[in-house]
Amino acid sequence: MKNTQAYIKEHKDRFLEELLELLRIPSVSADPKFKDSVAQTAKLVAQHLRKAGVPKVEVCKTEGHPIVYGEYIQDPKLPTVLVYGHYDVQPPDPMELWDTPPFEPVIKVTKRHPQGAIFARGACDDKGQLFMHVKAFEAMKKGKELPCNIKFMIEGEEEVGSVNLEKFCKKEKKRLACDMVLISDTSILDNKVPSITTGLRGLTYLEVEVTGPNRDLHSGVYGGAVANPINVLAKMIADLHNKKGEITIPGFYDDVDEVSKSERKAMNKAPYHEKAYMRDLGVTALHGEKGYTTLERTSIRPTLDVNGIWGGYTGEGAKTVLPSKAFAKISMRLVPHQDPDKVFKLFKKHFEQAAPDYVKVKVIPHHGGDAAVTPTDSREYQAADWAMSQTFGKAPIPVRSGGSIPIVALFESVLKAKSVLLGFGLDSDAIHSPNEHFGLFNFYKGIETIPYFYQRYTELKQS
Ligand code: BES
Ligand code: MN
Ligand code: MN
Repeated sequence: MKNTQAYIKEHKDRFLEELLELLRIPSVSADPKFKDSVAQTAKLVAQHLRKAGVPKVEVCKTEGHPIVYGEYIQDPKLPTVLVYGHYDVQPPDPMELWDTPPFEPVIKVTKRHPQGAIFARGACDDKGQLFMHVKAFEAMKKGKELPCNIKFMIEGEEEVGSVNLEKFCKKEKKRLACDMVLISDTSILDNKVPSITTGLRGLTYLEVEVTGPNRDLHSGVYGGAVANPINVLAKMIADLHNKKGEITIPGFYDDVDEVSKSERKAMNKAPYHEKAYMRDLGVTALHGEKGYTTLERTSIRPTLDVNGIWGGYTGEGAKTVLPSKAFAKISMRLVPHQDPDKVFKLFKKHFEQAAPDYVKVKVIPHHGGDAAVTPTDSREYQAADWAMSQTFGKAPIPVRSGGSIPIVALFESVLKAKSVLLGFGLDSDAIHSPNEHFGLFNFYKGIETIPYFYQRYTELKQS
């Protein structure tokens, strides 16, 4: 490992420059306006893989954004690790809340990143983290210390549901054959408290439309006699939770995996400072499902949230209007054994039945995905534990995350491969928000840790 770590030290400034260049291209997958930029980003990722020493690299076209695929098979008898990441990013909006432009990366010191952090959309989610893998590979190959075979699959549609990646995985099962999948797209608890993600929540995302009168009305002439669809939608949404913070959709909790008392006790040992948590978010109290801690509410319990709500007049000044329609985008985070399609059907049935007869409702599905949990007694996990112990000087804590990476469950069902979620971001890095950033400490720690993972995993696999 000497050559590899020495190579990283020697080239670390160039690694950073290269990442900044990658962050300058606005690869927003959700917005068709950025289609060319997304394609350009795929090309740049492919170039970097080639430059890092991956002999076979291909930019694979899909019905949506391209998938960058690369492989280096030294010896078919050696274990093969498939590295997954995504080069697409979330839209930067609201633009006015960024202190510096989202696609002009700058390095600034923060409280949690005294050594500096890169501020840019995608810095942490996931360009910065996928780039750690490209650089770790380069260092190991140049140092002649790469112990296994590596395949890279870097997609451009994670933030919009990975629909085309799902098709690609099913079609290219043979090409993607591997012993395990390695992903850096999650967080650690703190730079002094390393952790490994052992679970992700599932997701059902949908949209609702409530229609009242056949046209917008004068709110004075008709107000009081005709139901306002925004008022109705607001009430219907409020009724989706009861006083205990539980979700009221019949059958919603039927398949929820209840976590044992001992496991709950263990997970609550993770460091958590309620006051600091609230201070960071600018709230004076927390709110959630009764009977569960914050750590539990954000990992082992399902949730329902409105992500956006609109209708009527939202422009400058005031306009008196009783609108014809109201809309909302709603997501439900799911836990193991909850089926996203089944949950969608339960929601739809409930919402339609709950609608008063003075409105019509429509429930439209978006994307979804299954939750995933990974065991801690596997070779894969043990290798990750060992690798982090080497570079952080202490053993990582296993933690279930509240976020979702729906493709992880698919890797397991289609490729029959377990994933290791070896992420290096912090939950406070503002992913999906204005001023997203990624610590330099975290970027370099990732590059240093990944080679130890390959080393240990190969040893364990061959013993
Ligand atoms: N990298 C995130 C998921 C994540 C973040 C997991 C932090 C754990 C900790 C990923 O890019 C993401 O944002 N996923 C989406 C789901 C997707 C289907 C749009 C999410 O969780 O909202
Ligand atoms: Mn991500
Ligand atoms: Mn994301």
